[in-house]
Amino acid sequence: MSNYHNPVLLHESVDALVYNPDGIYVDVTFGGGGHSRLILSRLSSAGRLIAFDRDTDALANVPDDPRFTLVNHNFRYLKQFLLYLKAIPVNGILADLGISSHQIDEGTRGFAHRLDGPLDMRMDSQSPLTAEHVVNTYDAERLQLVFQRFGEIPNAKTLATTIVNGRKAAPILTTGKLKEAIASCTPRQTPAKYLSQVFQALRIEVNGEMTALEELLQRSGELIITGGKLVIISYHSLEDRLVKHYLQTGNLEGERHTDLYGHVSKPFTMKPGKAIAPGAAEIENNKRARSAKMRIGIRN
Ligand SMILES: C[S@@+](CC[C@H](N)C(=O)[O-])C[C@H]1O[C@@H](n2cnc3c(N)ncnc32)[C@H](O)[C@@H]1O
Repeated sequence: MSNYHNPVLLHESVDALVYNPDGIYVDVTFGGGGHSRLILSRLSSAGRLIAFDRDTDALANVPDDPRFTLVNHNFRYLKQFLLYLKAIPVNGILADLGISSHQIDEGTRGFAHRLDGPLDMRMDSQSPLTAEHVVNTYDAERLQLVFQRFGEIPNAKTLATTIVNGRKAAPILTTGKLKEAIASCTPRQTPAKYLSQVFQALRIEVNGEMTALEELLQRSGELIITGGKLVIISYHSLEDRLVKHYLQTGNLEGERHTDLYGHVSKPFTMKPGKAIAPGAAEIENNKRARSAKMRIGIRN
């Protein structure tokens, strides 16, 4: 478990989340359980923690604690499960988005460009869409959009056309074959950075990560009690923008809608008013922390 994942902004996020030791909290991205274990340490015997992870590998990390419940499903279904568990309203929700180090380090999952493996990239091995399907069946326009939006790749159009041409001879089935197929688009000076962006884009598409975040944000207002907390750690500018917009305005577009008195009606107040980033020491110890941004909303 110690190698499973090194939690990012651990103390900062849990300090922001837990304000009532008797409360009900939700960790929607359980992973190795680093955040969950610290949350449990802050709760009394009356407190309760419900965690979500769509990856069955995470089940190996479940703590033996009567206050804890793990739901092995997509957090998109958060409301339905909380209703079933009679846990609404909750005092706080934590999301530490993206994938765990464990998932990246398993070559057979296809998340890492430095490891050869099948083009899979599913967090949940039961879900129907794989990276192989995206790479071999999406048309050039759709692929371009994926690389532009989720990878912020400057030559997304050339990349998409190269893949569509490359797969004509034979389907692209492995991470190694994908790397070969796109070698002409990959900059010689910074291949790892470019490949990381390509793989990130495919992973976000395969797992519907933006849709899941959008639904989480839009649901959280109905689930969290007044004064309760929403804490989100993201690793992608698009995710952080969605979180910022939602906390600032109550909608994903970031449009300010005011009432007759000029007040913006929104479920949360973002406090502090800007994103929190890990310090130099944490980044030094944990490369994954580099791109992290945490935002905190307090339910109005
Ligand atoms: C960055 S890791 C979380 C690490 C965790 N905070 C820890 O301390 O070990 C993200 C985890 O969330 C899970 N995950 C991502 N999106 C999800 C979703 N929509 N529903 C359920 N689990 C999800 C992934 O499978 C992964 O295990």
